[in-house]
Amino acid sequence: MLETVELAPRDAILGLTVAFNEDPRPEKVNLSVGVYQDEHGRTPTLECVREAERQLAAGPSNKSYLPISGSTGYAEVVQRLAFGEQSKLLSSGRVAGAHTPGGTGGLRVAADFLHENFPKATVWLSDPTWPNHPSIFAAAGVPTKTYPYFDQPTNSLAIDEMLAAIESIPAGDVILLHGCCHNPTGIDPTAKEWHQIVQAIYQRGLLPFLDFAYQGFGDGLEQDAAGVREFCQADSELLVCSSFSKNFGLYRERVGALSVVCSTKEAASAVQSQINRSIRANYSNPPAHGAEIVETILRDQILRETWEQELTNMRNRINSMRQQLVDVLTAKGVPGDYSFMARQRGMFSFSGLTKDQVELLREQYAIYIVGSGRINVAGLTPANIDRVAEAIGVAVG
Ligand code: LMR
Repeated sequence: MLETVELAPRDAILGLTVAFNEDPRPEKVNLSVGVYQDEHGRTPTLECVREAERQLAAGPSNKSYLPISGSTGYAEVVQRLAFGEQSKLLSSGRVAGAHTPGGTGGLRVAADFLHENFPKATVWLSDPTWPNHPSIFAAAGVPTKTYPYFDQPTNSLAIDEMLAAIESIPAGDVILLHGCCHNPTGIDPTAKEWHQIVQAIYQRGLLPFLDFAYQGFGDGLEQDAAGVREFCQADSELLVCSSFSKNFGLYRERVGALSVVCSTKEAASAVQSQINRSIRANYSNPPAHGAEIVETILRDQILRETWEQELTNMRNRINSMRQQLVDVLTAKGVPGDYSFMARQRGMFSFSGLTKDQVELLREQYAIYIVGSGRINVAGLTPANIDRVAEAIGVAVG
């Protein structure tokens, strides 16, 4: 029976790291998967994480199961971070949710919940979006469609087309947005655009769903939450998927969360029961360690300050590499205006490189970027940036 199984294609992002690891060329550069690297090309474990782990190891140990939706103490710190310390939502009883294995786990729990409870709803995704978004919803049996997001000629948000599209989405559908640091374009709405988008979505009767995986990588923890908070109106409904892979550097610990803001406490209880049902049939209950690290850091003033400084350092290094890439491309006379790269936010730059150019970079230079032309700017270092710019020059020349 099993001999009939066909080989699946490699994952568009994680598959590239497999190919990168197999590549024997010593000069190879991995600018594909969204993993932060420091100026030496290493992915450090943050100092606040090491200290939190030391404290956890010294304290009492409990390896029994967590509740299905995970730790409530963790849920509280997650909500404070996403909605703000002063948010009325925190004590409202209107937020259901779960501590999930990574942001991807949270997306999948939400997808299962939507499929079970709103079987007719379509989830609308930005064009383009993270390639795993359509896969996650497809795996849960949730139909997806796309709305315009990116204006290629101006390298900016296609706000008019996006608003017009929102007005034609059927009421009762779900619209997925990136809370900040849009993946792959690096282009986020301005405060005024968020306001327009939120108004249009609520007027249309859509359920907003924010994938919030890069808080702190754009302009700062509070600034990056502007979109999420604009959605938190008096009795509004909202799904938020948080990930701490990037901003705590906890990639392999798989630590994320789903928060579902409901219009009443009663609705939140019912939603919570349905989320728990989905989780029980999926992975039963979440892994504890990553969430314990995040909660320990966020509840301790000194660890939190250390974390915020380390996050600021990561953000500043990425933004400085963005500017340097623009400067080096310009200095080398590479055809084209790359100034847009400095305006993009988060880990990625949507470079405009075509599939063929991406392939040339990989084959001739051992430089790995995602097929859409998405470059992980956090993988650029003083040691590789010249070579990367030269190779881009050849690819586009
Ligand atoms: C990415 O987009 O590179 C990251 O979110 C990692 C992943 O799982 O794809």
